[in-house]
Amino acid sequence: MTERIAETQLPEDSDSERTNRKNGLLREVSDELVQNMKQGWADTERRDLEPLPQAAYTARRRAELSARFPGELLVVPAGNPKVRSNDADYPFRPSSDYVYLTGDQSQDAVLVLEPGEDGAHQAFAYLRPRSDRGSGEFWQDYHGELWDGRRNSLAENEQLLGLPCRDVRTLTGRLAEATGPVRVLRGHDPGVEAALGQRATADRDEEFRVFLSGMRLVKDEFEIGDLRFACAATARGFEDVVRILGPDQPTSERRIEGTFFLRARTEGNDVGYSSICAGGEHATTLHWVRNDGEARPGELLLLDAGVETNNLYTADVTRTVPVSGRFSPIQRKVYEAVLAAQEAGIAAVKPGAAFRDFHDAAQRTLAEYLVSWGLLGDRTADEVFALGLQRRWTLAGTGHMIGLDVHDCAKARTESYVDGTLAPGMVLTVEPGMYFQSDDLTVPEEYRGIGVRIEDDILVTADGNENLSAALPRTVEEIEAWMSRLRG
Ligand code: GLY
Ligand code: MN
Ligand code: MN
Repeated sequence: MTERIAETQLPEDSDSERTNRKNGLLREVSDELVQNMKQGWADTERRDLEPLPQAAYTARRRAELSARFPGELLVVPAGNPKVRSNDADYPFRPSSDYVYLTGDQSQDAVLVLEPGEDGAHQAFAYLRPRSDRGSGEFWQDYHGELWDGRRNSLAENEQLLGLPCRDVRTLTGRLAEATGPVRVLRGHDPGVEAALGQRATADRDEEFRVFLSGMRLVKDEFEIGDLRFACAATARGFEDVVRILGPDQPTSERRIEGTFFLRARTEGNDVGYSSICAGGEHATTLHWVRNDGEARPGELLLLDAGVETNNLYTADVTRTVPVSGRFSPIQRKVYEAVLAAQEAGIAAVKPGAAFRDFHDAAQRTLAEYLVSWGLLGDRTADEVFALGLQRRWTLAGTGHMIGLDVHDCAKARTESYVDGTLAPGMVLTVEPGMYFQSDDLTVPEEYRGIGVRIEDDILVTADGNENLSAALPRTVEEIEAWMSRLRG
């Protein structure tokens, strides 16, 4: 005889949508099977774990957060899996602020800083524990361990993360009991937000979000190490792409995308954003991620791609290379203007400089080249720059912070980011470009369809800067020699 597993045997957060997978073919289970699945499992608890390498850093970050909001209950969810279709989810990506403060990447997890009598906080990670073999959860729940893989026990996570861990299924009750002011990072866990209800207010939560984002502006040693690693791994992916670029026949953008991704995965990493693999005129689209065209000999390939480490820090690098291995005169002309702009931009990255300085330096250089080429009539470069007329062909800002997010710290206060000052430990891209659309009748025909961007990841140091992606060549001569060497 068969029967559906009793509701009471499933954990409290299971629901029919999560337990009914696929087509329900195996929904019916016998009592014998239920009993059978409860026993016969070895104790796999690990008692030999060391703290994560970043545990000391995350503790320091939590202390900084605690000091800013004494006496308030602070809630930072990792977020929940997102459905891609039916019962298949997108790969889970925890919220960056949760990762920053814990080093953990678990889905459904929540960091809570609970204030004590003196206003100082005790931090707890609320996590899904191991699946209980006594219930059907581990083999019948949509996200049970038999389906999704083994989770760490709470005790194991306490060792790894260096902070006390609690069962996340108890969190709603604890939030309901808590009194006093509350702040929550919104947009990641609707269940947590619902449990807090009216006690969390939009204004105060926005202030919390802005502070969290601003905390990440200056990277610590652990983060800089990871970004350095991401840039080195990214360089290897670019080399692989150059090796498969056909000098005599087209190479599909899909294959270029796959080649970069293969290198990232082969080394155990991921990509931090959708790779932009833009052959020919596709390079004039800033974020060309359709990647459904070809890179043909005689055209340029703009490749904008970044490896993301297992700690979720991403590089963001662009090189624009001639598919044939040699720049044509007009390609070289545009390329060298962008390179000059990038050099001017990088030279403006130093502690104490305004964040806007490198953008202005690069844009002014681009304006000078455009004027010298006669594309702006009688205007002087100063007039062009003041009116921003170069932007018809330069389009975007010249750079942004990188880190856990490719566009990092985006919610930080304007005064401390775009209107702020560079400080040692900040890591930003410098990525000027020139983009001549193929239907732009205001430029001579030879420019049309050419897009060039050069993007490097620059660390602000105590006395200037360091280019973390300098392993990849940038001058015309270096690029041609590099391509020739890699293609044998
Ligand atoms: N890859 C996106 C950007 O360069 O900002
Ligand atoms: Mn980029
Ligand atoms: Mn970028």
